[in-house]
Amino acid sequence: MRQWTQEERYRVLHSPDDISELFERNSKSVYRQTYHVQPVTGLSSDPNGFTCHKGTWHLFYQWCPWGAVHGLKYWYHVTSPDLVTWKNAGVGLRPDTIYDNKGTHSGSAICAGDDLYFFYTGNHRDENWVRTPYTCAAKLGEDGNPKKLPKPLFGPRDDYSEHQRDPKVVYNEEKNKYYIFIGAQTLDKKGTVLIYQSEELLSGWSFAGQLNVVGFEDFGGMWECPYIVNISGTDVLIFSPQYTKLPGRSESTNHNVYLLGKMDYDTLTFTPESGYKHLDYGFDFYAAQGASNVGDPDKGILIGWIGLPDNHYPTEEEDWEGSMGLPRELRVKDGKLLQTPITGIEKLRDGEAPADGTLPAACEILVDIDPARQAEDFDLNLYTKADGSGGLRLHYDAASKTCTVDKTGLNKRFNMAVGEVLDMPLENPLRNLRIFVDHSSTEYFVNDGEATFTTHSYPEAEEFHYTVSDGAAIKIYKMKPSVKDDFVI
Ligand code: FRU
Repeated sequence: MRQWTQEERYRVLHSPDDISELFERNSKSVYRQTYHVQPVTGLSSDPNGFTCHKGTWHLFYQWCPWGAVHGLKYWYHVTSPDLVTWKNAGVGLRPDTIYDNKGTHSGSAICAGDDLYFFYTGNHRDENWVRTPYTCAAKLGEDGNPKKLPKPLFGPRDDYSEHQRDPKVVYNEEKNKYYIFIGAQTLDKKGTVLIYQSEELLSGWSFAGQLNVVGFEDFGGMWECPYIVNISGTDVLIFSPQYTKLPGRSESTNHNVYLLGKMDYDTLTFTPESGYKHLDYGFDFYAAQGASNVGDPDKGILIGWIGLPDNHYPTEEEDWEGSMGLPRELRVKDGKLLQTPITGIEKLRDGEAPADGTLPAACEILVDIDPARQAEDFDLNLYTKADGSGGLRLHYDAASKTCTVDKTGLNKRFNMAVGEVLDMPLENPLRNLRIFVDHSSTEYFVNDGEATFTTHSYPEAEEFHYTVSDGAAIKIYKMKPSVKDDFVI
């Protein structure tokens, strides 16, 4: 693993020329994605500022231009007409003021009238490396790029730790007010959310209080990237608790969970209807953010980072890493959250591949298990060798209704200490799988959205095979490229 000095990690990007050679080099990797948004160079992490404005979808990602390292973070901008095809739009926010001198960290977007506003964390550090997180705002300019406000909206509170970041802005009609949810940590190191309120978007912000999440007063050491959305009358609270291990999650200390319940803005209380659930059961899924301005009260749209904060991936050797997941549609049905791949992704199908045991590098796999066989165990092993050995192995145990995904059989192993085997418990017998395979990621959507599992995977040439149990119908579609990875800085 390459060692980076602080100076190297926090280098400022002065000109596209600084990274043009890196772009050429990164572009040649066999692990570059075909239909997922990925870093133009270097590292991508959290999705930011996700919204639909005047018919265009805007998405940004946390971007470190220099390589596979969490250093000076920019917001890199991509746009899409349909959440399926994307193009690079250049740097969205740069760490170029005193308030964000060491990074434009995560945040969200909201439309008001004809305008589009962004809220982000200015990560300031002084000469002694002491951090002050500012909540800052920007507005989309005529040229299609965010323009920062000269001053932050507010600074951190000193009755919480320095971990106060990732503003999620929402408008509440009943109160006729805007609220900002900030991921935070108490002084005794418990994860929480701070809430600010204002009648105006760009001024008048005051601290409303700490969000009380009933039963979750001691759950993780910091809640990154909070997000709240109402779907079909149910409030969905999503956040990424860290510095804690959770049952069934091996050695990982970074998670992305959700709660269904009711948000009361009078008492700043979120009352969950039931326990927490994992947004995704995979090895690599974090910091998911829902879009604003979806325009349908019965649907949310969410995108996550395929990656985890403390993990390392094989493409580090090539000086890049990370990818966005596919956008997902969220629905609430019978008190459950369902997550399905974005409608329209079928447009990328590029003909059916023969279901003959070979696996295309970019494909969608549809598996339907014969109803008569749903009480039986089932196996689907991707990226095996020609003889069926090795690979990314999914085993469904019918007795416990649990899928177990085991990546120890892949040639390229990574993050071994975090755990290479994870369970995905189901409420219903396994009946179908929809799997999106790209050059360095695999995303499983199970039982029409009951559960999902996302992982990075870095197959070698001899591993493009699969095996599947009898009693299942399998269809494989090759997938077309949908992201124009031009060098736009
Ligand atoms: C989550 C996170 C955020 C922060 C950003 C910095 O992965 O740590 O809390 O704003 O990444 O890149």
